[in-house]
Amino acid sequence: MDHDQSAKYNLLAQDISQVLLSEEDIQTRISEIGAQISTEYTDKNPLLVGVLKGVLCFMADLLRAITIPVEVDFIAVSSYSPEARDQGLVRLVKDLETPIAGRHVLFVEDVIDTGLTLNYLLQTLRMRRPESLRVCALFNKSKLRLINVPIDYVGFDLPDRFVVGYGLDYQERYRNLPFVGLLKPHIFQNKVESGSVNEPR
Ligand code: PRP
Repeated sequence: MDHDQSAKYNLLAQDISQVLLSEEDIQTRISEIGAQISTEYTDKNPLLVGVLKGVLCFMADLLRAITIPVEVDFIAVSSYSPEARDQGLVRLVKDLETPIAGRHVLFVEDVIDTGLTLNYLLQTLRMRRPESLRVCALFNKSKLRLINVPIDYVGFDLPDRFVVGYGLDYQERYRNLPFVGLLKPHIFQNKVESGSVNEPR
């Protein structure tokens, strides 16, 4: 890990066993995606739709990497039990404030694992008749996919390991790390062994 970053985020970074993506890796890729979106959506006044909360870092940086007029809105879904999650059950707890009929909508996600959340939300948004609906995900864990979902812009493919940082959390912590890394197993091992939680993903 970069020494300066390790020192700066010491209380959190000490729980990280390996940095997979540095702050520079992430910012460089976001600049590229932002430039591509700026070119492809020129004169389309796109609406970026993010899913809270994991997307907050990515959305903030992607917005600033886009150089054309753009609007932003957010959706929030309920956290669900592992059983409900595996059935693709998602409950909308905060809807969009913006009508999307006739709009060019770009759905922005931090990470796509099973694809179930995205699949549900795309179905919901499609019923509102946007002019176009595309997907931008910073991280893709394709090995965990249970359902095929279209992704138009991808930042990075990640291994099927539990990662935190840059919006990704474990029990709501580590989102503020500017890099992405593997969480040391002992941080979550006690709870996994006691059966009180599943191994996080
Ligand atoms: C993450 C992520 C996606 C979802 C993807 O959210 O932001 O919304 O999981 O998982 P899926 O492809 O298996 O459906 P999470 O439930 O961790 O909530 P958070 O964004 O508030 O951290």
